[in-house]
Amino acid sequence: MTVPLLDLQAQFERIKDEISAVVAEVFTSQRFIGGHHVEGLEQEVATYAQAQHAIALASGTDALLLALRAAGVEPGDEVITSPFTFFATAGAIHNAGARPVFVDIEPDTFNIDPNRITDAISERTRAIIPVHLFGQCADMEPIVELARQHGLVVLEDAAQALGARYHEQPVGAMGAMAALSFFPSKNLGGAGEGGMVLTSDDALAEGLRLLRNHGQGAQYVHSIVGTNSRLDALQAAVLRVKLHHLDAWAEERRSNAARYNEQFAAMDGVVPPVVRPGHHHVYNQYTIRLPHRDACLELFRERQIGAAIYYPIPLHLQECFAYLGYEPGSMPEAEQASREVLSLPVYPELPRAHQEHVVQAIADHLARL
Ligand SMILES: Cc1ncc(COP(=O)(O)O)c(C=O)c1O
Repeated sequence: MTVPLLDLQAQFERIKDEISAVVAEVFTSQRFIGGHHVEGLEQEVATYAQAQHAIALASGTDALLLALRAAGVEPGDEVITSPFTFFATAGAIHNAGARPVFVDIEPDTFNIDPNRITDAISERTRAIIPVHLFGQCADMEPIVELARQHGLVVLEDAAQALGARYHEQPVGAMGAMAALSFFPSKNLGGAGEGGMVLTSDDALAEGLRLLRNHGQGAQYVHSIVGTNSRLDALQAAVLRVKLHHLDAWAEERRSNAARYNEQFAAMDGVVPPVVRPGHHHVYNQYTIRLPHRDACLELFRERQIGAAIYYPIPLHLQECFAYLGYEPGSMPEAEQASREVLSLPVYPELPRAHQEHVVQAIADHLARL
């Protein structure tokens, strides 16, 4: 039995007819850039996330970068974020010309620890990027409050968390802006690259619309220098189909997670994901901690079970960020997490037999220790 970490073919089987119809429609129209699918997607995601504006972009990475630029982040500024995230979060800060400032994570949720943020704020701090890692929101209330006190912009990195809620507030409208990714493995994934910024601030929305189109307001009139970061009509059409299924698929992820939780409750050594009260987790990843993780991954390979380490090297220790001067041991929680985490298959269509196979492999790993 081969157990993939993610099976997008299984998802495609469920929506083949819907996807084929919209793809045919886009080809018939031969309108590949902009158009009613892009505008429709923007309206639908904005409504879904209770934000005033949605600006569709070419990737989640661009969403972070252009959001920082729209907020006026510039060389000399500092932006606070988590060291335990996908590279793009800090890469965008660097590419905006600013300096990433890392703040260690909470060991239970893997999200930035709000209690440690104050010490990292300096005169140069302009923004905070909390990452809603694996599909659970960062602890937004204290973060938003700190940002208010210090006049900082909050940009949610919601790439992994569309559909998650924090005390009934949906992801995407708690900060000044939120960045989404439509990378195929995300809960709302396209047929290629894609991203979006959500905001309820009219001026930021206007700035983002300019930035994604070479700063062009009227045709061939450029008030600022932007880039080409438009979302393709084909992507928007596919994403609109999938958006209808997003909540149902998240429920399936949540049931799979609950089934793992039940099994792991009886296994000493496995630490299942902790969901804080008032948080609605959408499990883009189901990530456990366990002892001798690398030996377990080896066993998974032997048994052809897909699993992944998100993330093996925390960002403060990446070679490209050596200039920031962080030493090993400076972010102990992120460093420990990177040694212990393992993400297991949790995708909506995961067959029961596959899940049992995964659980059995973990039990066998623990028995060998
Ligand atoms: C937390 C996080 N931030 C940013 C990104 C970047 O998104 P993209 O791959 O669409 O550029 C991703 C996903 O890949 C992500 O997981």
